Amino acid sequence: MFTRSLRRLLLPLALLVPLGAWAETDPDTGFVIAPGWETVKNNCTACHSSKLVTQNAGSRNRWQYVIRWMQETQGLWQFPAETEKTILDYLTEHYGPKEGARRPPLPPSMMPKNPYKQSSG
Ligand code: HEC
Repeated sequence: MFTRSLRRLLLPLALLVPLGAWAETDPDTGFVIAPGWETVKNNCTACHSSKLVTQNAGSRNRWQYVIRWMQETQGLWQFPAETEKTILDYLTEHYGPKEGARRPPLPPSMMPKNPYKQSSG
């Protein structure tokens, strides 16, 4: 009886919340709890706040670039290949490029006529 009414209560709720909004976060660091998060927590919060990580977003290349930059100039240690892969997988998955941050340019057919355009004739 109880479980059934509970399910009746929870099912519509589950449908309302978009996938991903369920993502649980670590109260200490704010990291999304998902495979690899502890590796990131252990390696990425020694020098600066986890916020510096969670407030950033980028492609895999960008994350790798930031890591290389810290390794070359900020004293970040080298990671075994497997560890680096775990970190990059995690960051790309959960802190990937922000969609819609910048819209693509309009095609020329959608642009207004340019009144200053000189016709070469
Ligand atoms: C050895 C110290 C150290 C560790 C460990 C470290 N960082 Fe950093 N990181 C820095 C320093 C220093 C800065 C520059 C901070 C500033 O500008 O205030 C920085 C800056 C950053 C930035 C901001 C870069 C920008 O473009 O502004 C990000 C993102 C970042 N770190 C992510 C990470 C991640 C992810 C890890 C784990 C793989 C990590 N950090 C581990 C030292 C470290």
